[in-house]
Amino acid sequence: MPTTGAKPIGAKDEASAAQAVQQMFNSIAPRYDLLNHVLSANVDRIWWNRTARRFRNVLGDPDAAILDMCCGTGDMTMALLKHRPRGARPILAADFAHAMLSRGAQKFGGPGVGTREPDAPCAIPIEADALHLPLPDASLDLIVTAFGFRNLANYEAGLREFYRVLKPGGQLGILDFSEPGGLIGKGYAIYFRHVLPAIGRAICGRDGPYNYLPASVGNFPPPPQMLALMQTVGYAQSHWQSYTFGIAGLYTAVRPQAA
Ligand SMILES: C[S@@+](CC[C@H](N)C(=O)[O-])C[C@H]1O[C@@H](n2cnc3c(N)ncnc32)[C@H](O)[C@@H]1O
Repeated sequence: MPTTGAKPIGAKDEASAAQAVQQMFNSIAPRYDLLNHVLSANVDRIWWNRTARRFRNVLGDPDAAILDMCCGTGDMTMALLKHRPRGARPILAADFAHAMLSRGAQKFGGPGVGTREPDAPCAIPIEADALHLPLPDASLDLIVTAFGFRNLANYEAGLREFYRVLKPGGQLGILDFSEPGGLIGKGYAIYFRHVLPAIGRAICGRDGPYNYLPASVGNFPPPPQMLALMQTVGYAQSHWQSYTFGIAGLYTAVRPQAA
């Protein structure tokens, strides 16, 4: 049966799946950055930067309307901001876990944050569910989402909602984990399914979240299925670029220009 969306243990339907994901991220927010960097040996930074570079043309347009969906503690947003010119329209950075978003806002928020200069590029935090965005139809030039899409309770509904808010010609980038094949895949599976949850448990003090991570990647549709879903929803030019032997990868697609 095709996967419809994330299935945290115990979730009976899409509403309870979304609630479990939201609670889980709220609970790990204080340790999230530390865990991320330890568990990925900082390779996540390379992936965020590579993703941002892929969209440097649209990021370089000061008037472009850009959303970082599932922004969490804001590291993808920060990578996108490096390519924004001074005085550019702020990026919108959305997440439904308050504790994650408020940490992100401390990094990417406006001129009042840190030592930012008044016209330094910044982002505006929005507490919102990816499946019900508080944004008008056809209002965005670019949506990027890093390691969040896999957690949505319904993947097709997420792609449809992104399509709704993208302008014709607008671009989508979904960075997420994948399951590498071959020998590398076998070695990585041992790390991902056994070592990573153990380190996560040690730092986090609890079992749940870092057992959920490998389970959620196992449940996530592989590239051919995701690309087919993107086409069904109506996206054009859908493509998957493998990162680091296929441990992660970037889906890109475009909402076609109106006929
Ligand atoms: C693994 S974190 C990724 C955070 C950040 N993008 C990064 O790369 O570090 C996933 C984020 O997705 C958010 N998320 C999951 N489902 C969501 C939904 N339906 N709507 C909004 N945010 C969601 C979670 O709250 C969490 O902050």
